[in-house]
Amino acid sequence: MVTVREIFPGVFMLDNLVATLNANPGKRVYDERLTKIDGKEYRYWDPFRSKLAGAIKKGLHEFPFTKDGKILYLGASTGTTVSHLSDIVGEKGEIYAIEVAMQVIKRLIELSDHRSNIIPIHDDANQPNNYKEVGEVDAIYQDVAQPNQVDILIKNCDMFLKKDGIAMIAIKSQSIDVTKRPDDVFEFALMELEKYFEILEKYKLEPFDKDHLFVVLRKK
Ligand SMILES: C[S@@+](CC[C@H](N)C(=O)[O-])C[C@H]1O[C@@H](n2cnc3c(N)ncnc32)[C@H](O)[C@@H]1O
Repeated sequence: MVTVREIFPGVFMLDNLVATLNANPGKRVYDERLTKIDGKEYRYWDPFRSKLAGAIKKGLHEFPFTKDGKILYLGASTGTTVSHLSDIVGEKGEIYAIEVAMQVIKRLIELSDHRSNIIPIHDDANQPNNYKEVGEVDAIYQDVAQPNQVDILIKNCDMFLKKDGIAMIAIKSQSIDVTKRPDDVFEFALMELEKYFEILEKYKLEPFDKDHLFVVLRKK
């Protein structure tokens, strides 16, 4: 008998595993496990495949992704994490999913055919002017693994994030500077972020992801 506990609206712990309610019943997005409990279908959310699930497992408190919410997602890839956010925000929510690589955005576009709250945008997150029609959003999530990923977050938050809105960033030290110790890279990145945001939470993502710091920020 599995114990179900809702830890954030739309996010569940099934015993000690994270899951969301499947908005597209019977369909998997990656190779996640599906399970039915009391007539509802849940999708297990793999912390080794999604840094947001990893952060939840590490004890995340702030969760700005709500039913009907509007999200800007930078570095959407094939939509692993986006698909769980799609379960959470529901039919009236909107996830503007920016992805620069053509080979992966094709899968994201296929996903959006079955999940109308995902709006894929083939563009470079360095160029927010290109997708300015997105307008103001409730939350920004960034996972681009780029040397200038802090700058990318700042300029997107400047342009789109509502006042007091929450941003989340998964900082990959190896993408910023392979020659430096991860902790030194993180310290410098946090100093930069502090100029624009209040730092609410930070988690190293081991054992799910090596050399990643997941940071939760509030726009000043
Ligand atoms: C680590 S993967 C993202 C995984 C995804 N967030 C998930 O959890 O399902 C990083 C993605 O960012 C994309 N990316 C890198 N630089 C980018 C940029 N400047 N603009 C948009 N996407 C970018 C890459 O093509 C890649 O698909």
